[in-house]
Amino acid sequence: MIPPGIWRFADRLPLADPRHAVSLGEGGTPLLDVTDALGLPAGVTVHVKAEHLNPTGSFKDRIAAVALSLVRERSLRGVVGTSSGNGGAAAAAYGARAGRPVVLLALATAPPEKLVQIRSAGARVHLTDGLGHDPHTTLRVAEQVRAAAGRHGWLALLTGGRYAPEIMYGARTIAYELAEQAPDATHVYAPIGGGGLYASLWRGYRDLGGAVPRLVAVQPSGCPTVRDALAGGPGVLAEPSTTGISGLQVATLFDDDVPAAVAGSGGHLTEVTDERVAAAHARLVRLGVSVEPAGATALAGLLDDADAGRLPAGARVVLVATGAGWKDVHALSSLAGPGPLPHGAADLEELLA
Ligand SMILES: Cc1ncc(COP(=O)(O)O)c(C=O)c1O
Repeated sequence: MIPPGIWRFADRLPLADPRHAVSLGEGGTPLLDVTDALGLPAGVTVHVKAEHLNPTGSFKDRIAAVALSLVRERSLRGVVGTSSGNGGAAAAAYGARAGRPVVLLALATAPPEKLVQIRSAGARVHLTDGLGHDPHTTLRVAEQVRAAAGRHGWLALLTGGRYAPEIMYGARTIAYELAEQAPDATHVYAPIGGGGLYASLWRGYRDLGGAVPRLVAVQPSGCPTVRDALAGGPGVLAEPSTTGISGLQVATLFDDDVPAAVAGSGGHLTEVTDERVAAAHARLVRLGVSVEPAGATALAGLLDDADAGRLPAGARVVLVATGAGWKDVHALSSLAGPGPLPHGAADLEELLA
């Protein structure tokens, strides 16, 4: 049986035979209407594409599912990759399911929850100083991983079109689903780390041949690689990134199609401060949409655009919520309020009055 989710689009994925699919239930995520909670001008609608509800808690499951399926189909030995945590957690789970080893070089600053998720599934992980934050280290390690994977018969999990175009087909399925779920969307806001997600949305919409919504790239101002790429540069920072947002600390673009996606979709770049992301994070979590900060970055961009008068009347907006709240308990804790919790017999009369 061919599993549902991303495998509904098997004819668009790079597998020769979908019976090799390695699935944990990825894709098919819901679209949540949050219009009523945001106080935007009448006529504007906002939906959240709930990618944090994927099996390991992020959109990277779509990519890892394709990766491990290719490993199985091509009798490769395993997966080796770099990760800020989520791609690694996805690879670890799908590697476990496929019975293949997974070796990861992870950001030394990765949240402990993501590292536990990786290790508990049985993957090997090495923390790598400078990876993500420092552009030269990030580029060097990515090249080393790609080369070593090739030498040893492993698949490289570097989640951007520059390094691993085949596995990125998995992320295009978000656009395929959105074209069905929100066919009249005018704007899709997505966070940018290495840019693989954003460029995959563009490629996915183009595959379908229909109208492409404006794709808005939302990036922390402490990691302005897209600003550099849109100015004709290589999309590489001159200095280490300064954002604290896990998943978005990538000092070099991993996907060369980001400028084409901005121009071709009529989209734009919105840079946001970490403080604005924290405010957007609080708003989503307090709506019951429990995402990690990177998963609230699209909302931060939307709210900044609305404040700046950049949001047209009647816009029908989709925000891509990329990762789950439990992946970064430290960020959630600031919303949980100070302890200690009241303990002992509760005075229900007072609590419910
Ligand atoms: C939760 C989350 N959101 C967004 C991103 C950014 O995705 P990309 O690197 O494809 O731009 C990542 C990447 O790790 C992530 O983990």
